[in-house]
Amino acid sequence: MHRRQFVLGALGAGASAGSALAFPRAGSRACSTAAIPFGAAIRVDLLRDDPDYRRAVLAHCQLLVGEGGLKWFDLRPAADRFVFDHPDRLIAFAEANGLKMRGHTLAWYAGMPKWTETITTRQEAERALYEHIDTVVGRYKGRIPSWDVVNEAISDNPAIQKPMRPSLWQDLIGTRHVELALRRTAAVDPKVQLVLNDFGFENPTLQCRAKRAAFLRLVKDLKDRDAPLHAIGLQGHLPGEQEIDREGLSRFVAELHGMGLAILVTELDVIDDKLPADTVIRDEIVASRARSFLQAIGDVCRPEAVLTWGLSDRHTWVPIWFSRKDKMPNRPLPLDANYQPKPFMQVIKDFTRATS
Ligand code: G3I
Repeated sequence: MHRRQFVLGALGAGASAGSALAFPRAGSRACSTAAIPFGAAIRVDLLRDDPDYRRAVLAHCQLLVGEGGLKWFDLRPAADRFVFDHPDRLIAFAEANGLKMRGHTLAWYAGMPKWTETITTRQEAERALYEHIDTVVGRYKGRIPSWDVVNEAISDNPAIQKPMRPSLWQDLIGTRHVELALRRTAAVDPKVQLVLNDFGFENPTLQCRAKRAAFLRLVKDLKDRDAPLHAIGLQGHLPGEQEIDREGLSRFVAELHGMGLAILVTELDVIDDKLPADTVIRDEIVASRARSFLQAIGDVCRPEAVLTWGLSDRHTWVPIWFSRKDKMPNRPLPLDANYQPKPFMQVIKDFTRATS
């Protein structure tokens, strides 16, 4: 296929699917017309070591989240020791510059230090989870207003796997760990926005459909049990070669919204390992995927925040797992490796600006 046709095909696919879907709004939250705060996942050392990075963050972001720093692996080198250096520095930077913080994350299957393998019973697991939440949420009470309390609780493919992803918490406590984590976080900081954060909802595949269904079951169950939960974080690590299932994603968002939950876009980027090498074409496809994803959400209700997972192609997690076969650098983010805006940044600007 001619390269141009490839791009137009991708762009056309994004633009064609349902833009005026009617969804039930009963019981749902009001949708704001105000500008949506934009932010990015930050590597705190770069704020110190790379002045261009720091300038770009200050130029573009109203909201920050640590790419690491608050994960168990980073905070807990030993069972009896917490290291708060990185998040302390990031929060100080945010506060000095009038930026808001999000917290990522309290209960996750990954990023667990080796010593946690000594936790082997349900009681020990509950005790460890509570101690962690009390210490971390307690330390930043009033300074981190929104927390990804549980991250990636649903398995990769609930069509062929158990719906809940195996983890220390799931294995020892069961699905109830989600409710326990939410309740404990709410008890420590009653003003905090409690978020379940997850990925893999947006493509027209059986896997994504099964993931949406499993996630909705979890959320409905939590609601039935009156568990405190305020928002859903849609990560948005978009596989660049796949179309966005705009109708499926919009329906999913409408169901969540109808349960009174806010939506946040928490980790947006476009994984470009399978996209054409030509950077102009690649950047256009990346932008069009991001636009389709955001529009599918915005068709139901504008999200409360949009964050990308990193800001510049210079510093991104994507090559850790999705480096390109042709060895060209990945280009998943709104700014290029020299901190210049790409078409993706224009998509963010268009989407986040106030609508009235
Ligand atoms: O800190 C060392 C550094 O000293 C060393 O030079 C470098 C060499 O490889 O490794 C550095 O640590 C790596 C760190 O990323 C760098 O930022 C870790 O090995 C690596 O495991 C870590 O990966 C992070 C991953 O989560 C696991 O915590 C990625 O940066 C981070 O982007 C990724 O973020 C996740 C979200 O939390 C959840 N959603 C998916 C997302 C992407 O995988």
